[in-house]
Amino acid sequence: MKIIIINGPNLNLLGKREPEIYGSETFEDFFRTLQLKYKNVELSYFQSNIEGELIDKLHEVGFTFDGVILNAAAYTHTSVGIGDAVKGIETPVVEVHISNIHAREEFRQHSYIAPNAKGVLFGFGLKGYELAIQSFL
Ligand code: DQA
Repeated sequence: MKIIIINGPNLNLLGKREPEIYGSETFEDFFRTLQLKYKNVELSYFQSNIEGELIDKLHEVGFTFDGVILNAAAYTHTSVGIGDAVKGIETPVVEVHISNIHAREEFRQHSYIAPNAKGVLFGFGLKGYELAIQSFL
């Protein structure tokens, strides 16, 4: 079972960035605990602040991997290109957000990913990524 977590812009700052919203753990530390816990899953991780790199990665994994866990961060609300990439690939995509996007600003209420996602998890903190892994098992 091959699953990749793809994180979008500013998520490289997890641990430092608005900890009251996103928590104080770095994603690298959290990812290591996931790898230890899900030893039977071939888990990989990619982060980019660049829209086209996120699209390229979706194309690269999207016909061979079993699952994509995507937190496109701010691009969720703006990127037709990432939405189209999710639509165009074969691998199912679970959309994750750390915060409860529906309890925040109006501009976070719309997602270009959700219409083509297998499911959406938001508001559970980093645990949402783990729940997304479980959704593929
Ligand atoms: C986020 C929510 C987005 O609205 C925001 O732009 C992010 C992170 C989340 O994980 O809660 O950068 O995707």
